[in-house]
Amino acid sequence: MMPARLLWCVLAATLLVTIPAAAAESPPAPFANGDANIGKTLAERDCVACHARQMAGDAEKMYLRSNRRVNTPQQLLAQVRYCNSELGTNYFPDEEEHIAAYLNARYYKVAP
Ligand code: HEC
Repeated sequence: MMPARLLWCVLAATLLVTIPAAAAESPPAPFANGDANIGKTLAERDCVACHARQMAGDAEKMYLRSNRRVNTPQQLLAQVRYCNSELGTNYFPDEEEHIAAYLNARYYKVAP
């Protein structure tokens, strides 16, 4: 029989090893099935011109500015939806996911 204190020590060490591993496994992004190639076409057609006007001609700065709004996959999809409704393009949800997948792969990298 192990002394109680040693048992606790072993338990604590086990927890320390397993908890961070579990925490690192984040849920799949809400746009995990988005197709970045389709998203690229849509974003270039519908989004770049206005962002360029906002950012003194350099549209990419919108996604890369230090105080950017998007820092999680959920925020990314929400912001795509927001700009989409402002814009009145009436994308289908899967099109919003394509765009989010494209912006994630190219700029945000907030999801695998
Ligand atoms: C009519 C102008 C306009 C159009 C068109 C537009 N946007 Fe935006 N977008 C903005 C503005 C303005 C902001 C900055 C909002 C802020 O900082 O509060 C923004 C911000 C964003 C951001 C967040 C950037 C950050 O800070 O991380 C994303 C993502 C985005 N837009 C996606 C899109 C997508 C996708 C489209 C095309 C479907 C689009 N936008 C079309 C005006 C526009």
